[in-house]
Amino acid sequence: MTTIKNQQWIYIRHPDAIVGPEHYELRSEALSTSLSAGEVLVEAQYISVDPYMRINQSLKPTYNELPHALNTVQTAGVVARVLASSVPHLAVGDSVEGMLGWQTHARVHHSVLRKLDPSIAPVSTALGVLGMPGRTAWFGLTESGRPHAGEVVVVSGAAGAVGSLVAQFAKRHGCKVLGIAGGKAKCTWLNESLGLDWAVDYKAHSTAETLAAEIKALTGGVDVYFDNVGGMVSDAVIPLINRRARIVICGSISQYSGALDQAEMGPRFLHHMLYQRATIQGMLARDYLHRMDEMLAIVAPMVKAGEIVFEESIVEGFNQLPVALNNLFTGEHRGKLLVKI
Ligand SMILES: NC(=O)c1ccc[n+]([C@@H]2O[C@H](COP(=O)([O-])OP(=O)(O)OC[C@H]3O[C@@H](n4cnc5c(N)ncnc54)[C@H](OP(=O)(O)O)[C@@H]3O)[C@@H](O)[C@H]2O)c1
Repeated sequence: MTTIKNQQWIYIRHPDAIVGPEHYELRSEALSTSLSAGEVLVEAQYISVDPYMRINQSLKPTYNELPHALNTVQTAGVVARVLASSVPHLAVGDSVEGMLGWQTHARVHHSVLRKLDPSIAPVSTALGVLGMPGRTAWFGLTESGRPHAGEVVVVSGAAGAVGSLVAQFAKRHGCKVLGIAGGKAKCTWLNESLGLDWAVDYKAHSTAETLAAEIKALTGGVDVYFDNVGGMVSDAVIPLINRRARIVICGSISQYSGALDQAEMGPRFLHHMLYQRATIQGMLARDYLHRMDEMLAIVAPMVKAGEIVFEESIVEGFNQLPVALNNLFTGEHRGKLLVKI
């Protein structure tokens, strides 16, 4: 029996605060290359790091009933190249995407893989604009945010994978868009490269009140708030909502590094929902998995035509995966953060 060396990052320790390399261990196994009927052997090209990985490490129930199990391979989306195949529609050299985890190789049933078309865009986009973040941004904005031309859309985490797409989709809907991000450089990028109407640096504010004052002065009020970060940023935005505003809870990254296990209470804001007859809705990418082709039919032509900025921040090397995950919380990247193997 022939085998190859498969390297794996194993999640070994629960983080109390920010996640990093100390919570993972690099191991290797001998992986048999013999294929059963329907199986495919693949080698990772790009591996994703995503904030949900930290949510899944929370000890309290989340959208998963149980936390990510210790001593198992870190779950992750992967773009991989086919090394051997037992099915006619996947040939050696084809690129595929699937939830293969933080490992260099995998032997899996073809049904868990999505074949990629490199003529549309670089295959790495299957983990970003043409993958889960793109699906989240498109359906989160259009189905939960329900934007109308002329409305004000505020996006937190606006320079990240999901937020940068939401902001651009909202512009295409004819909205006036304000992006909130950390630091002057990201705000300049939001204005100049993404063409947003306004960009606000939340790190320049030490209180929600001063942040709110800046957003209020620019927008007058908020019709759709697409929230990726929660915490102080949401404390600032929610009191600014207009009548019948829609608030989309996509993520709360400011709370992931410990506060999901020990709640950090912020100011109560539900009275604003009453005053403005507003709607607040959580949305989850997995609920739209069956509509992936619908999203691709709309967004892939925009990508191919060069109408969407889909920046990728690429970290080189399989060994860097836990460091890259940690980087999501320090926020140095723009767009989708990926690791190239
Ligand atoms: N609901 C769903 O199905 C779904 C799917 C995908 C993602 N999400 C959520 O969407 C959000 C963004 O995910 P993503 O993949 O696009 O990641 P991302 O925005 O590319 O990366 C995370 C960014 O969050 C910001 N951040 C980190 N800590 C923060 C803090 N304490 N306060 C404010 N901002 C902070 C940083 O940007 P700054 O430099 O601007 O601070 C960082 O670059 C996350 O909350 C994630 O959980 C939800």
